[in-house]
Amino acid sequence: MKLKKIMLGMSLMTLPLLAQETQKKPVYLNPTKPIEERVEDALQRMTLEEKIGVIHAQSKFSSAGVPRLGIPELWMTDGPHGIRPEVLWDEWEQAGWTNDSCIAFPALTCLAATWNEDMSLLYGKSIGEEARYREKDVLLGPGVNIYRTPLNGRNFEYMGEDPFLAARMVVPYIKGVQANGVATCVKHYALNNQEFNRHTSNVILDDRALHEIYLPAFKAAVQEGKTWTIMGAYNLYKGEHACHNQYLINDILRRDWGFDGAVVSDWGGTHDTRQAITNGLDLEFGSWTDGLTMGATNAYDNYYLASPYLKLIQSGEFGTKELDNKVRRVLRLGFRTAMNNEKPLGSLNSPEHGAAGKKISEEGIVLLQNKNNVLPIDLSKAKKIAVIGENALKMMTVGGGSSSLKVKYEISPFDGLKTRIGSQAQVVYARGYVGDPSGSYNGVISGQDLTETRSFDELLAEAVEVAKTADYVVFIGGLNKSKHQDCEDSDRLGLELPYQQDKVISELAKVNKNLIVVNISGNAVAMPWVNEVPAIVQGWYLGSEAGNALASILVGDANPSGKLPFTFPVKLDDVAAHRLGEYPGNKEELARSTSKKDTINVSYNEGLFVGYRFTDKNKIKTLFPFGHGLSYTSFAYDKPVADKNTMSVNDKITFTVKVKNTGNRTGKEVVQLYISDKKSSLPRPIKELKGFAKVELAAGEEKEVSFTIAKEALSFYNDKTAEWVAEPGKFEAVIAASATDIKGVVPFELK
Ligand code: BGC
Repeated sequence: MKLKKIMLGMSLMTLPLLAQETQKKPVYLNPTKPIEERVEDALQRMTLEEKIGVIHAQSKFSSAGVPRLGIPELWMTDGPHGIRPEVLWDEWEQAGWTNDSCIAFPALTCLAATWNEDMSLLYGKSIGEEARYREKDVLLGPGVNIYRTPLNGRNFEYMGEDPFLAARMVVPYIKGVQANGVATCVKHYALNNQEFNRHTSNVILDDRALHEIYLPAFKAAVQEGKTWTIMGAYNLYKGEHACHNQYLINDILRRDWGFDGAVVSDWGGTHDTRQAITNGLDLEFGSWTDGLTMGATNAYDNYYLASPYLKLIQSGEFGTKELDNKVRRVLRLGFRTAMNNEKPLGSLNSPEHGAAGKKISEEGIVLLQNKNNVLPIDLSKAKKIAVIGENALKMMTVGGGSSSLKVKYEISPFDGLKTRIGSQAQVVYARGYVGDPSGSYNGVISGQDLTETRSFDELLAEAVEVAKTADYVVFIGGLNKSKHQDCEDSDRLGLELPYQQDKVISELAKVNKNLIVVNISGNAVAMPWVNEVPAIVQGWYLGSEAGNALASILVGDANPSGKLPFTFPVKLDDVAAHRLGEYPGNKEELARSTSKKDTINVSYNEGLFVGYRFTDKNKIKTLFPFGHGLSYTSFAYDKPVADKNTMSVNDKITFTVKVKNTGNRTGKEVVQLYISDKKSSLPRPIKELKGFAKVELAAGEEKEVSFTIAKEALSFYNDKTAEWVAEPGKFEAVIAASATDIKGVVPFELK
């Protein structure tokens, strides 16, 4: 009581004083002034050297502030699935802190597979709080490069093959993070669709594919998400590296989209001072490294935007116009983050963050196949459950490149299942095969000993033996985060599962009819045994709560509701990039090339026809289509209807469909709306995703799902006039449960 009184008295007396103090503060330090005024004020106080000082790195993950003026440094962190542990000032190795472990959230492919914008907001909020608590200003993520080939080693860090889905899912993530006064750095802008030759590939594609497929998620990130930074990609486009690219940055990002944030280079993505000056780069990081390994020591003064830039100004070749604009953007970033007086405090490793990771995982896990309703595991009947496969044990948060983490904890699938099943059944384990027993990245060590001396045949024999007597067999395999699996800086070498897993799965299928295969990966894999195995689950990389989330789906605590954000092809030749396009680059140039530095062209000859757009057009049967995912309940769709049958360009049209849960438990269904243009002056995909809604339905419950669209959903990019156009004519609204499971079609006309 007494204390309260004193404080009250103090505040009454001091408030006017404080207000006066604030008024006297220089504008740039005065939080009551608009950011733009503070930026201009700070800018005019800075010397030339101080300006140069803030536009490039001073350490692996920070850029300098202006100590004389009290303007703080900016600290970056990977991203995108958790907050990276601290590294040494000028090394990739660990700084050895003990307070830098985090909650790992599920990989972005899993987030995309939730098809639930609320999950994306929860993800952004949670990871943003962790970043904020760790005092980071910029989170290097999320990634929205389009899934062009299942061989891309970094697909797990992205949001799938469809521009509409990726655009819808990226926006809430950004908002959630930035509400913490932490900037997102949406990456890798643009056309970074493979890891092979990632620094030297020059992408060639038509303007329609660029605007309709590869850019929409970035555009949404800028215009709707209002991301404060964007990361330039490693690759080239039109012969210029993406980090300093006239066309991508100056013309599209800034002029057309009105981006007012800062462009950050990928680590080692800057190659030329003059281009960096004129073509839009604001913050240079990681030069003299490939972003992962090599690097000159403390080379920061030699960065392209450091001394070399200063010299060009001193020699008179450049004025300070470009520099001032870069500094403005860096200061603006600072006022939004490090100097943001209103930012919350954040939180780290909280139970809420663990729960968020579990919830998102449960909504993103995809039930691909469930013959004879093998799943969920019936614990009232099962006495013995055999868990087989390396990925049941292997920690997946260590490895994979820059997204590697040091986690507070990670529940393995095996531990998750054992804990959940408890004494209800016996849970036994057999390895089955050996994949990658290593477990370290940049000094973070998983601490697991996965070494194995037995031969493949011995491991297989043991697994088969164990499987014979079990009521259920849960095989947990797939890829991992080692080189040529799902890993930065290398692509996969084929679509097949590695380490002879196909053989293990086929042998298990012969001895047990209750076989469940859980595929852990961020990519599609071939499944030659698909007809031999009753139940298949896509288990992604799920982070800290991996095992708990998987167990909850497998025993039916949670009802699966994830849907695939990309197509699972039967074989590689069914993928447009491999059949029509160039991958990993022009064959003759690759054969001729003698140096790793040679630029290699990669032509996206498939144009717009990526993913389901290609399989639709060529009537190619998929292993599992885009948008596919089953539930433990069933849904019935009524005939969809529209509120009108013609619309004008400035009009809107609404489609409605009733969906009913016809099973006996609560479940969620993702209702999808595709638009099909029946006739157009330029070639168009058969249909394109333009809406989706995830609805929860109790057993027997029915709900109406509506989609309202405007001309944007009907438009294509006319590359002759550089405009989006909605051409009058006949269209169809296709209501579907996946790209191939069509529930109803409503014709309508645009007048
Ligand atoms: C990656 C980026 C990452 C950066 C910093 C680069 O190698 O491409 O995605 O944010 O390193 O670690």
